[in-house]
Amino acid sequence: MNTYDIITLTVNPALDKSTHFKGLVAEQKIRCSEPRFDAGGGGINVSKAISRLGGSSLAVFTSGGPLGKMLEELVAKESIAYQAVPVQSWTRESFVAVDDNTNSQYRFGFTGGEITDEEELTVLEAIANLKPKFLVGSGSLSEGISSDFYQKVAEIAKKSNSKLIVDTSGEALEKVLQTGAFLIKPNVGELAKLIGVERLEMEEVNDAAKQIIAKGGAEIIVVSLGPQGAVLVTKDNYEFVPAPNVAKRSTVGAGDSMVGGMVWALSQNKSLKEVIRWGVACGSAATMNEGTQLFKGSDAQRLFDWLTNK
Ligand SMILES: Nc1ncnc2c1ncn2[C@@H]1O[C@H](COP(=O)(O)OP(=O)(O)OP(=O)(O)O)[C@@H](O)[C@H]1O
Ligand SMILES: [Mg+2]
Repeated sequence: MNTYDIITLTVNPALDKSTHFKGLVAEQKIRCSEPRFDAGGGGINVSKAISRLGGSSLAVFTSGGPLGKMLEELVAKESIAYQAVPVQSWTRESFVAVDDNTNSQYRFGFTGGEITDEEELTVLEAIANLKPKFLVGSGSLSEGISSDFYQKVAEIAKKSNSKLIVDTSGEALEKVLQTGAFLIKPNVGELAKLIGVERLEMEEVNDAAKQIIAKGGAEIIVVSLGPQGAVLVTKDNYEFVPAPNVAKRSTVGAGDSMVGGMVWALSQNKSLKEVIRWGVACGSAATMNEGTQLFKGSDAQRLFDWLTNK
């Protein structure tokens, strides 16, 4: 039996490799510092964030080839329980390089190999058997996976009485709304796309989210606004939490950290006011660290306290 309240699902994980160099010059060999390897991908990052807050979760992800093995090792090193679904194609890599001369960050993402229909089914079966309280689907979909994948996950969540949290974009997210999720976390651009407009002004966010809620797409919509913070919208609530002013190093993983913070808070039965504050605190704390590192628990706690007492 599954003993974890929270399960995270990552169908398209990545082995994150990061490094530093001085000066980007074409045709020349660019010397890079010793690479740092991290396990990456939406759901895995959410599991890491939960663990930084002292919580636990089970990370379910696909794993293929030697890079998949490395990914598993890195997840285990973070003391995160996991269930890897073996797939034929190799787990993909992503590459982050920082130019120390300019402090600019270059982020390269590779397309992963195809996931077969049978492999997709194995992932769905694994999820259906686990029946957690909270199920988190996060990140992009691998090649070969149909765009209604998260919708199928939503159907499983409904049957298992799991509260589904989804953080993805485009068609994959649109389809989830047809079945309905407990919580979605689009950024403002993703929300605009969902309701079919070019862009949304801050004062239009509440109405846009309420439209989706009224149609049964989600119970809670948290719209993240980057350095401006986030808003939480339910049928009857609207809560805006500004982001604290922090010394920003890298915004990689801010969205995943935010989702991790909120899911952890939900699992601790915190109020929605606290849930959104934990989300903003963890998202902003993540921007204080370099590259693919997420956040320090102590930073998140300090920012949460500041947001609560200000
Ligand atoms: N520059 C920043 N300064 C302070 N906090 C930030 C900054 N950027 C992001 N955050 C925090 O992180 C949260 C999520 O960020 P954002 O809205 O950029 O998510 P996202 O677009 O989903 O990001 P991702 O690229 O990780 O998917 C914000 O609500 C905020 O709390
Ligand atoms: Mg995001």
